[in-house]
Amino acid sequence: MSIRNISTTPFQDQKPGTSGLRKAVTVFQQPHYLENFVQSIFDTVGDLRGQTLILGGDGRYYNRPAIQIILKMAAANGVARVKVGRGGILSTPATSCVIRKYNALGGIILSASHNPGGPEGDFGVKYNSSNGGPAPEKMTAAIFDRSKVIDHYKILTAPDVNLDTLGESKLADMVVEVIDSVQDYEKLMESLFDFGKIRELLTSGNFRMCMDSMHAVTGPYAINLFEQTLGAPKGTVINGTPLEDFGDGHPDPNLVYAHELVEILFGDNAPDFGAASDGDGDRNMILGRKFFVTPSDSLAVLTANATLVPGYADGLAGVARSMPTSQAADRVAADLGIDCYETPTGWKFFGNLLDAGKATLCGEESFGSGSNHIREKDGLWAVLFWLNILAVKQQPVEQVLKEHWQKYGRNYYSRHDYEAINSDRANQLMANLHAQIPNLKGKKLGNYEVKYSDDFSYTDLVDGSISENQGIRIGFTDGSRIVYRLSGTGTQGATLRIYLESYEPDSSKHNLDPQQSLADLIAIANEVAQVRTFTNMEKPTVIT
Ligand code: G6P
Ligand code: ZN
Repeated sequence: MSIRNISTTPFQDQKPGTSGLRKAVTVFQQPHYLENFVQSIFDTVGDLRGQTLILGGDGRYYNRPAIQIILKMAAANGVARVKVGRGGILSTPATSCVIRKYNALGGIILSASHNPGGPEGDFGVKYNSSNGGPAPEKMTAAIFDRSKVIDHYKILTAPDVNLDTLGESKLADMVVEVIDSVQDYEKLMESLFDFGKIRELLTSGNFRMCMDSMHAVTGPYAINLFEQTLGAPKGTVINGTPLEDFGDGHPDPNLVYAHELVEILFGDNAPDFGAASDGDGDRNMILGRKFFVTPSDSLAVLTANATLVPGYADGLAGVARSMPTSQAADRVAADLGIDCYETPTGWKFFGNLLDAGKATLCGEESFGSGSNHIREKDGLWAVLFWLNILAVKQQPVEQVLKEHWQKYGRNYYSRHDYEAINSDRANQLMANLHAQIPNLKGKKLGNYEVKYSDDFSYTDLVDGSISENQGIRIGFTDGSRIVYRLSGTGTQGATLRIYLESYEPDSSKHNLDPQQSLADLIAIANEVAQVRTFTNMEKPTVIT
């Protein structure tokens, strides 16, 4: 085995987005592309000697070859030990859990989250630091800077490592430890939730659930947890085998892409509870029988009922949500007398609040929720949280939500996405909106009056760093909002997201279709931004 110093030239496009470097598989397969980025990470994160790294991915196409390359580079760069998930599989939340548990320097997660996989699909590389969370912006910016000047990388010449047998082997001086992907994570879940009560619920004969792993990474975790540990019948988990192309699906747990689960939960003889998770296991969707729980409402319900769950029985320090997420959680926080923080889109912005003990629960409209147990959002954690609440309350999901709205009012909410639009046109649309910001205040738009309008800027409470241009907000005097953002996770052209929210205190008006109750706001949002003109599209590609 010998260490080789390979000369290389920089790629100019290795700027990490909302969640790591995400590109088409074919881009990553270019000679030196993956190696350049990984060496840029290694050159940035500090002295690797004597350190442990965690490595795993969501099992998508190119996962295994990438893991072999990264292991050989880690060995050549002086890393002491790499813990790698068996078969190269580790969900994003499990990686975060393992980084924290074993005091690792950090971890590399190979995933493009909910983007489709396969030779024609996407791949991604993300670095998480020692707190288990996504590298902060300062670090990703430094990695990007490094990638623009890199002129060599180090790699070991060695045969591939066997990733399928648990235990230790050596790559030069580095120990490669293949670990069980599920065990540490399951132990953590057991320490937070009342497994006894959940088991009673799942084996009572009066409650059926369906978990859709969408042929992605949570399959083995969900089968272990729900069917083996918690006693749910075999078949409770559907699409439970991780496949390199996710069975040609789009592993994004929303009403559009998780249609198989939606059809089951909205069909005849529907089960009581349904859930889905995404490619790398950090997102979740929660359904009741013929009932959809918006992610924003889910965060509000978890916050309101947290003390029913052993891990949160002492109450919450605070709650945090991303800016475009509805203000439903704010109302609960106000009632509980705890702080509610508003951060830009991207889980990394919660990291400092969690580390500083300011927030306990966090959530985003983009189907993510989590807590201070790790530093990533956590799909199966959310499912277990819901099951724990249902097991205590002994109520159907729909009733839990209706009673919640009765107490706090309902925040009607919807997101309209225009995917794969021309990037220049998308930027023009945003520039056009930007130009309108100073003139909107006090203006009447339909029946709404503009209270404020701005481009959201966030100052981190802990390190003082400022993140600007995080989305254009138009707030109305009755508390309704329209928010516009361009997605930071897409790989084709640009995706425009329009977030719509209104507040309804009157419980006799809590049973409307959100698209209807938001219809006026939707029309205003389209008109102000001239969506049709700029996108050339008649309607959104995805509505959630
Ligand atoms: C990832 C991040 C989330 C973020 C989401 C949406 O899942 O981890 O924190 O909310 O992407 O990002 P986008 O920029 O596509 O709206
Ligand atoms: Zn994800």
